[in-house]
Amino acid sequence: MEQIKNYIESNKERFVTELVDLLKIPSISADTAFSQDVIETAKLVEKSLKEAGCTTTEICETKGYPVVYGEKIIDPKLPTVLVYGHYDVQPPDPMNLWDSPPFEPVIKKTELHPDGAIFARGACDDKGQMYMHVKAVEFMIKENVLPCNVKFMIEGEEEVGSDSLEDFLKENRDKLKNDVILISDTGMISNDVPSITTGLRGLSYVEVEVTGPNRDLHSGIYGGAVPNPINILAKMIASLHDENNRITIPGFYDKVEELSDADRALMAEAPFDLDAYKKALDIEDVYGEKGYSTAERYSIRPTLDVNGIWGGYTGEGAKTVIASKAYAKISMRLVPDQDPDEITQLFMDHFTKIAPKGVKVKVSPHHGGLPYVTPIDNIGYQAAAKAYETTFGKTAIPERGGGSIPIVALFEQILESKIILMGFGLDSDAIHSPNEHFGIWNYLKGIETIPYFYKYYTELAQG
Ligand code: BES
Ligand code: MN
Ligand code: MN
Repeated sequence: MEQIKNYIESNKERFVTELVDLLKIPSISADTAFSQDVIETAKLVEKSLKEAGCTTTEICETKGYPVVYGEKIIDPKLPTVLVYGHYDVQPPDPMNLWDSPPFEPVIKKTELHPDGAIFARGACDDKGQMYMHVKAVEFMIKENVLPCNVKFMIEGEEEVGSDSLEDFLKENRDKLKNDVILISDTGMISNDVPSITTGLRGLSYVEVEVTGPNRDLHSGIYGGAVPNPINILAKMIASLHDENNRITIPGFYDKVEELSDADRALMAEAPFDLDAYKKALDIEDVYGEKGYSTAERYSIRPTLDVNGIWGGYTGEGAKTVIASKAYAKISMRLVPDQDPDEITQLFMDHFTKIAPKGVKVKVSPHHGGLPYVTPIDNIGYQAAAKAYETTFGKTAIPERGGGSIPIVALFEQILESKIILMGFGLDSDAIHSPNEHFGIWNYLKGIETIPYFYKYYTELAQG
């Protein structure tokens, strides 16, 4: 595998150009106006798998956007790695906060990325990270060092909840059969402190609508005498946290796994610079559940956050009006052993119950996903740890992540294998935000590290 360094040196410009081409297509799965672009992206991903040396490639239709499949089977007796990633991206809004257009990638240096970073929607989440795998496999096939079988499964609906994927997994169990699933769709602590993600939070996402009077009213003629749905929604939302910032929905914490003191102490050993954290976000102080550290709050604790709230007059100037309706989108991040369907039901019951008599409340569930935690006493984790040791010269730290990849828990249930999350992005790469970017160093380091995972995994599997 040592020749990977040379291979990267001779091909790095091409690696960047190819990723730039992929980033130019606006594969926004949330917005049907871009459905043709999503499909074009699937085709380009398939082409890249073919060029990398996959012997079989296929665009698999689902009830939503297609899954791109590719494989290189060198010997059925050898282990099989299944690579998962997604080619869809989040909407770029708000557009005016981008320093350069989201689908016209540019390379710029930043403080954390002195070698330059590619700025574009999807650069890190997940086109850049997914493409590291395509290039790592290209290297192993072209240089005849692929030590085991590989399958790719790259989907186009991750950012909208992976709705079609459960059926796809159930219908394609044999095709997707594997020994370990490898994913780069998370982050690491920093370029000096590699980490391996050992958990993801689950998700329950709802939209609420509060209706007061049957039409918008003059806020002078009626103000003070009728239920204002925006005032009431704000009050209802505020009541969802208590003075210790704990969520007040009855039963919400019933199934939350409390970590042992020993596990919490271990977590506290991972480097975390609170001052740098605050400075990077320009906040005077952090905010969250009493009794837990910042790192715990964003990884092992469940949350409830309003993601958007609207209603009434939001245009220029002032309009004196009491709106008929108010809305909010609310996400709850879940931890083991919370169940998204149960939590959604608890939310609906509670939110309906706390509404004053003067308003009607409607709660509509969006997507959900199960939380996931993986143990580290398995050969998949060990292979990943050895790979980081080799290319970073440092021991990777196991770290629970705060984000969600809904399909991961289903992978374990349906395909019955372990999932290894080798992320190479940084929290500051601004995924889902304006000016998303991915460090060139990180991109190339991923391409360098991945082949070692294959090497060590195959060695460990063969005992
Ligand atoms: N790649 C992210 C998830 C992620 C990012 C996990 C960083 C850990 C660290 C993924 O694409 C994502 O954004 N997931 C969504 C969930 C989905 C249902 C929209 C999320 O976490 O909000
Ligand atoms: Mn992602
Ligand atoms: Mn995402």
